[in-house]
Amino acid sequence: MQDNLKHKHKKHGFTGQLGFVMAAAGSAVGVGNLWRFPYLAAKDGGGLFILIYLILTFTFGFTLLTSDIAIGRRTGKNSINAYKEMSPKWKFLGILTFLVPVLIMTYYAVIGGWIVRYIVVYLTGQGQAAAQDSFFTDFITSPGQATLYAVLFMLFTAWIVFNGVEKGIEKYSRILMPVLLIMIVAIAIFALTLKHTDADGVTRTGLQGLAVYLTPNFKGLTLRRLMQILLDAMSQIFFSLSVSMGIMITYGSYIKKDVDVNTSIHQIEIFDTGVALLAGMMIIPSIFVFEGVEGMSAGPGLMFVSLPKVFASMTHLGRAAGLAFFIMAAFAALTSCVSVLETITANCMEIFHTKRKPTTIVLTIIYMIASIVIALGYSTFYIELPLPNGSIGQILDLMDYISNSFMMPFISMLSAILIGWVVGPDWIIEEVEFGGRKFGLRKLYAVMIRYIVPVIMFILFLQSTGILNL
Ligand code: PHE
Repeated sequence: MQDNLKHKHKKHGFTGQLGFVMAAAGSAVGVGNLWRFPYLAAKDGGGLFILIYLILTFTFGFTLLTSDIAIGRRTGKNSINAYKEMSPKWKFLGILTFLVPVLIMTYYAVIGGWIVRYIVVYLTGQGQAAAQDSFFTDFITSPGQATLYAVLFMLFTAWIVFNGVEKGIEKYSRILMPVLLIMIVAIAIFALTLKHTDADGVTRTGLQGLAVYLTPNFKGLTLRRLMQILLDAMSQIFFSLSVSMGIMITYGSYIKKDVDVNTSIHQIEIFDTGVALLAGMMIIPSIFVFEGVEGMSAGPGLMFVSLPKVFASMTHLGRAAGLAFFIMAAFAALTSCVSVLETITANCMEIFHTKRKPTTIVLTIIYMIASIVIALGYSTFYIELPLPNGSIGQILDLMDYISNSFMMPFISMLSAILIGWVVGPDWIIEEVEFGGRKFGLRKLYAVMIRYIVPVIMFILFLQSTGILNL
């Protein structure tokens, strides 16, 4: 305990509850919400995916987020040492957890780069060109452009981490998160007013698109399809809430003892899920209006294909709206990307006993190379890899799949076993209730962590490897 306290005071903490919630939301809200959620929801048929996602968020998402934050605050350490403190034999789990951001970092800056490209599009008035179907594909398949923007985004991220991050993230997140939310709401409302008539005379409206987005469709649902949707939804929860990858453990270690962890967790969950749902509402109805249901399977390019069409249809306001939106999106991506690189840097500093600046420089070089390879995955290194979730992926999707669909269920299963059966759920519950705070869902937490999480994660893990091919 003594060691514990000493450790905690060494770090710069968040200023208070709001600062923590905003910074955690800044990490959680990123391309996961704006880019990944809408394309998965579209791929998996809208309403049914949303329903499953919501149920999983408030059961599994809640359990995993509570665990990460409580582990962080109780131990005051980064993932590797935090797991070691919980049980010396389980240090390996901390190392495994640390590998997830290591993998995510290889492709996050590539997507950040896509967003920066669209800032340039609207700055230079190419909004109409960007609304053409082939614009996005032309961009990602051109080796020079794709790598340029990925490297640029990587350098922004590295610059912030290089200068030390804790206070900065909080300061920007407090302002940017609410502004981003307002913009998404405005664009989502606009998207619902869209209307388009095809060459063959079919008219589709934004409200019909909303119905596709929200209505669960059980028709022709097979067990195999259901399992794929479950795995997609769960991997999205890991990614979107930044759980089971040590990031929320690190953030948890920065919070003061008087913060109400339980309330903060609900706020983070609601904020993150709200942004994802709204992002879907802004993107899916518009893709439906312009391309019909066929457009929904566009995959990872969805946001970049559908939003320019929305902005193009706004006439003169479109350019300003497009510019403002992609600037906000870039900030959201940047706060998340910074949190990933920061976690890797903080862990490397602890492992190798190195200083922040040289550590950041070495990591930046490594990740610049990685980002270039992944960005070239659509041109020079193009592959078509069938993944067990039913999609065909390129290198970026492969990295995404390994980290979110394959590793995270495995890690969550092991941490649930560690918490549920080795240290016991009370170890977490005590921390949440510290200082007489209320933990209303403690029973749900205990049951989830002991029984449900391990079993379901095991099944999803098998599913993700393709071994269990239901
Ligand atoms: N949660 C972030 C998002 O939704 C992504 C992220 C992943 C952030 C991993 C940190 C760590 O975009």
